[in-house]
Amino acid sequence: MPAYAVIGAQWGDEGKGKIIDFLAENAAVIARYSGGNNAGHTVINDAGTFKLHLVPSGICWPHAMNVIGNGVVVDPEVLLKEIGENNLDPTRLAVSDRAHLIMPYHVVLDNLEEARRGNAAIGTTGRGVGPAYVDKVAREGLRVGELLNPEALASRLTEIVSFKNEIITKIYGGDPVDLNDVIALTNKWATELSEYIRPVENLVGDALDNDEKVIVEGAQGALLDMDHGTYPFVTSSNPTVGGTLTGLGMGPRSYGGVAGVFKAYCTRVGAGPFPTEIHGEQGDKIREQAGEFGTTTGRARRIGWFDGVAGRYSARVNGFDAMIITKLDILDGWDEIKICVAYEIDGERTDQFPVDAAKLARVKPIYETIPGWTESTRAITEPEQLNDGARAYIKRLEEVVGVPTKILSTGPRREETLVLEDFLA
Ligand code: GDP
Ligand code: IMO
Ligand code: MG
Repeated sequence: MPAYAVIGAQWGDEGKGKIIDFLAENAAVIARYSGGNNAGHTVINDAGTFKLHLVPSGICWPHAMNVIGNGVVVDPEVLLKEIGENNLDPTRLAVSDRAHLIMPYHVVLDNLEEARRGNAAIGTTGRGVGPAYVDKVAREGLRVGELLNPEALASRLTEIVSFKNEIITKIYGGDPVDLNDVIALTNKWATELSEYIRPVENLVGDALDNDEKVIVEGAQGALLDMDHGTYPFVTSSNPTVGGTLTGLGMGPRSYGGVAGVFKAYCTRVGAGPFPTEIHGEQGDKIREQAGEFGTTTGRARRIGWFDGVAGRYSARVNGFDAMIITKLDILDGWDEIKICVAYEIDGERTDQFPVDAAKLARVKPIYETIPGWTESTRAITEPEQLNDGARAYIKRLEEVVGVPTKILSTGPRREETLVLEDFLA
């Protein structure tokens, strides 16, 4: 029963979309289990460049079924846009009837709440993801399946919108949303999405029973996990492996492999502690060279050295059995490269990742410096093409994180990929 999880191992944007598009050639189902359109997954292949926020990254393979699981929060406007842009019919895309809806008032509240936080803002993507999950947990959310029962939905919306408007106007001083507009929107969504709405547990479960490969697509990253990440500077879901089981309705014995996607260095968007952050000109140079600007919001990503302490922690909380390292080519031509191997906190050395954000903000990284390489790794696809310097760097990352590397990514395009060992074996 081979399911394979591909999970962001850092703070998101590790290149999950690229890797999943590469792997999906050999999979029957590609399934998202968490997050919403806060994600931005870039896929580049002969068919073009795709920036996907909600639909899984398997859409370029006609044979693959793409599934949006119950753990995802769905903004139907974004979903319909992506369905239209990519000509996805219901034989290639399904959305769980139990996924929660991101409603217009969630987007309004996300932005009002960020403004209220002022200097303590999280730097959310402003897509309404957090407030939609809040309503889910509060048992006040609306689920995708409810779109199919318009009368009952309109009645619930009348109550909900009235209460949300009280909060929007009286607590935040914002502009109310219009109930009739919201009801009209949900009617449109119902008409346009009805054929895509299904109980996806069977879709995933049947594929596994039939020994077909299922790729479980992570969004965000382990260090943005609501429980295991740098709380409160996190997203409102569980991108770590535990979230895959609840977010899709599958069991742990389905797994044939759990891979962590690591960038060869680190990035982070939004606020929160980032021990290995490179400030100033050097960080700016890497950002420009590597094009580190958010796929969803266009914001400049913060840049840092590879954080081995965080990487080891991420491997532990996810049980990774494989590392997939991306953007190796970006390090070509550097004189030397640093790897953070331990932290100093309040004068003491530790190799443990502190979960407390305030403590993490006081961390001084302890670096090991590795010589760089002059040869290009860009687009190499064979292990023999890997130069000694890059090989030594990868080996050191494996030692520090404690997990073997199965795939190296050497460019943004699908074919710019070097397989060391078959992850879907
Ligand atoms: P995701 O959210 O994890 O799917 O990652 P994003 O798509 O947000 O960001 C990764 C960026 O790096 C995208 O612009 C990709 O096209 C690009 N990318 C992915 N892998 C590589 C690689 O190996 N080398 C280079 N140079 N770029 C890559
Ligand atoms: P992918 O799937 C990077 C970050 C936001 C913010 C925090 C909370 O492309 O890797 P939210 O809107 O989720 O409430 O914002 O999480 N964040 C991401 N950072 N990549 C992502 O997704 C992210 N999704 C959310 O920047 O710091
Ligand atoms: Mg991204």
